Amino acid sequence: MKNIVILISGSGSNMAAIVQAAQREHWSERLGARVAAVISNQAHAAGLSQAQGVATQVVDHKAFATREAFDAALAQAIDGYAPSLVVLAGFMRILTPAFVRHYEGRLINIHPSLLPAFTGLNTHQRALDAGCKVAGATVHRVTAELDHGEILAQFVVPVLAGDSAQTLAARVLSQEHIAYPQVIAHLVRAGLN
Ligand code: GAR
Repeated sequence: MKNIVILISGSGSNMAAIVQAAQREHWSERLGARVAAVISNQAHAAGLSQAQGVATQVVDHKAFATREAFDAALAQAIDGYAPSLVVLAGFMRILTPAFVRHYEGRLINIHPSLLPAFTGLNTHQRALDAGCKVAGATVHRVTAELDHGEILAQFVVPVLAGDSAQTLAARVLSQEHIAYPQVIAHLVRAGLN
């Protein structure tokens, strides 16, 4: 059985969509894969209550003096599940090169922009400010450089007249919920290559 570990920091709606897809589409029987755990760096992340029976764990970054120490503890928690794939889903921490290297080839992220445009934060407002006519999200492999790494899939939504950052974010997010589970299932089917 291939274990998938999902990392979250907040509302966890992408994580919930992945867990639902895994159950609805019988990933364990059909793909030999299961969501083994959800790990949050925030003790009060709303997503922790949305894990639908999947094991949850908190590794609170505030309990560690350095980024390196937090990443080492996080990796230890993750490795307890011997994951084939580690999925960042609204995980709002910059990861150390050592952490990224440790999970090379099995660490992916979803970012709410059409990379390489708008790395970092406030992507939707920046897309509106730039006058973009389309926006979207990118699933990519994680490298030591923030929001870089091989692009695995992208999803486009229109920017509509009168959009605010909130309305655009909601349109992109609903697309993320459909797309991210599909990309993960595809990756697992393809042997994670
Ligand atoms: C999602 O839009 C995701 O793409 C974004 O945060 C949101 C998390 O929502 N991720 C990033 O900005 C990563 N840099 P969720 O917690 O409800 O899945």
